[in-house]
Amino acid sequence: MKREIYKFPGITELAAQLAADFKAAAEEKAAAGERLIVALSGGHTPKSFFEVLAEPPYRDSVPWDNVIFFWGDERCVPPDNDESNFKMTNLALLSHIPIPEPNVHRVLGENPPEEEAERYAEVIKNFVPSAGNGFPRFDWIFLGMGDDGHTASLFPGAPTLKEREKICVVATHPQTGQKRVSVTFPVLDNGARVSFLVAGADKEPVLRQILEGEGQQLPYPSSMVNPVDGVLEWYVDSAAAPWRSA
Ligand code: 6PG
Repeated sequence: MKREIYKFPGITELAAQLAADFKAAAEEKAAAGERLIVALSGGHTPKSFFEVLAEPPYRDSVPWDNVIFFWGDERCVPPDNDESNFKMTNLALLSHIPIPEPNVHRVLGENPPEEEAERYAEVIKNFVPSAGNGFPRFDWIFLGMGDDGHTASLFPGAPTLKEREKICVVATHPQTGQKRVSVTFPVLDNGARVSFLVAGADKEPVLRQILEGEGQQLPYPSSMVNPVDGVLEWYVDSAAAPWRSA
């Protein structure tokens, strides 16, 4: 696994660079006659990135026909609920760009959670090429990190962290009890490119341990992501990583 850390002054610069990187990745795939298959995340850092993509020049120049969106996790609520990751993405990005509707594969948060975890796993399995180990290989997985170190909806100490067979699981938010559908570690670890987007001072204590404690066993799901045949990237801002020079 290759690990890269990119630090930016703030979330604005982080989102701007990520949008440029996203366009480059989509163009590279389009030039090869392929599609860029992406797993999106919820959270305020991804939202800033989506808002940049929704504006010119990206809105009009990314080859959207070649981009396919899935979600790494979703809250089990209807798509018009303010808690829905799809709703956030739709308002921030999808409703502004010319992406064909069949390219967008949302988790049906309105369905019964267990049923939906199985259904969505099938959708992923049927669409995303496998890495030869039975698990899908997304071209690019975007992840946020909670201040407790969770990522996607994989929470510290949860039984779902041990899942090694399924593509999707039902997770329960430890404080609110909200049900969520989340992809599992084998899916995250199969990604060709896996990028954490982390901004804000509340992330600093956990982020410092993860970035400085390489090789150490930490209790944070975000520290357990290990894309063996891929690249792991950390896009961080200076509030989240004040101790790093660059
Ligand atoms: C979700 C997530 C979650 C999120 C982090 C970071 O649906 O809540 O996908 O993993 O990305 O909690 O969120 P913030 O960027 O808002 O801190």
